[in-house]
Amino acid sequence: MEKKRVVGLVAGRHNGNSEILVKEALMACEEAGLDCILINLFDYNIIPCSGCEGCTMQMGAIATGQQKEYKGCIYKDKDDMDKIINTIQTSDGIIIGCPTYDLGPSALYLLYAHRALAYEVSFRLEIGDLKKNPNLVGGLIAVGGSCHDWQSLALEVLGASMFTQSIQVVDQMMAIRNGRPGNVLLRDEQIAKAREIGQHVAAAIDTPVEERHWLGDPDFGVCPVCHSSLVYPGDPHWDGIEFPFECAVCGCGGDLVKGDDGKYKFVIDPEHGHDRDRNINECRALHLDEIIQTRIEFFGQQELVKEKYKKYKEKQFPSI
Ligand SMILES: Cc1cc2nc3c(=O)[nH]c(=O)nc-3n(C[C@H](O)[C@H](O)[C@H](O)COP(=O)(O)O)c2cc1C
Repeated sequence: MEKKRVVGLVAGRHNGNSEILVKEALMACEEAGLDCILINLFDYNIIPCSGCEGCTMQMGAIATGQQKEYKGCIYKDKDDMDKIINTIQTSDGIIIGCPTYDLGPSALYLLYAHRALAYEVSFRLEIGDLKKNPNLVGGLIAVGGSCHDWQSLALEVLGASMFTQSIQVVDQMMAIRNGRPGNVLLRDEQIAKAREIGQHVAAAIDTPVEERHWLGDPDFGVCPVCHSSLVYPGDPHWDGIEFPFECAVCGCGGDLVKGDDGKYKFVIDPEHGHDRDRNINECRALHLDEIIQTRIEFFGQQELVKEKYKKYKEKQFPSI
């Protein structure tokens, strides 16, 4: 039988802190009998998403019966993204190590993450472009020079980038106070946690898909579903659904409730709390309905758009 495989995906410097932590996690996976490969995004060419919407336009056209075959991203054969994503989608696990820049993941990581939309797992499965759900298990490692206060969007944005690939995150860590390359070598507890993430990813791969669950600290973050630390007061969605509070990452809805210990807890609404849970393929697919609706409204008013466009197309400002 072919060995199962874990990809280490690094968006940090060669021999930098992210790479060290991902290597430590991969070593644990290797010891658990898994094949491991390491992709440092600095070694690959990834063209930024042009925003052409070619992928979601095709998705909408196929969903409404106007197109048969999905041709993918316009840059499919022009850079390394196809190779990277195909490697990931034919693997069993992924461990991502990413430096925090300006509170969130670095631009190099985001280049990769935004291009991954064209490879949306649930959609490609639906149209037969992808033969089998890879059911990937993930471990996330955010690495910054500071503490949580300067990495407040790091794991959250990394977490948000897991949905297009339907990756189930089973553990994560924020490696704090690492500046220069190799700084993390002075932080034994962080190296140990990275190793544990590798062990958790390996254990989850070895567990039947329907029995897989979060293996990290149960009290990590605020959201009991995705363990993000970002919960905000909800607003009405495009179709009117609204929650008192929502998780900014997974979209679960609920309320903030003060416990007997005086601490606030985010309690998921037992009836509708998972209606917009981005971890669930079918719930996430509702977002494609929203995109289609927005387009129907737009394309139905082309005369008005053309008229209003004039003012902005004619007006020019000097550039540099
Ligand atoms: C442009 C830039 C912005 C950064 N912004 C942050 C930040 O907002 N928060 C933080 O904790 N560290 C920040 N850092 C520090 C890096 O996250 C840190 O050096 C990290 O160890 C780099 O990871 P690497 O060694 O894997 O490349 C920044 C570094 C750079 C170069």
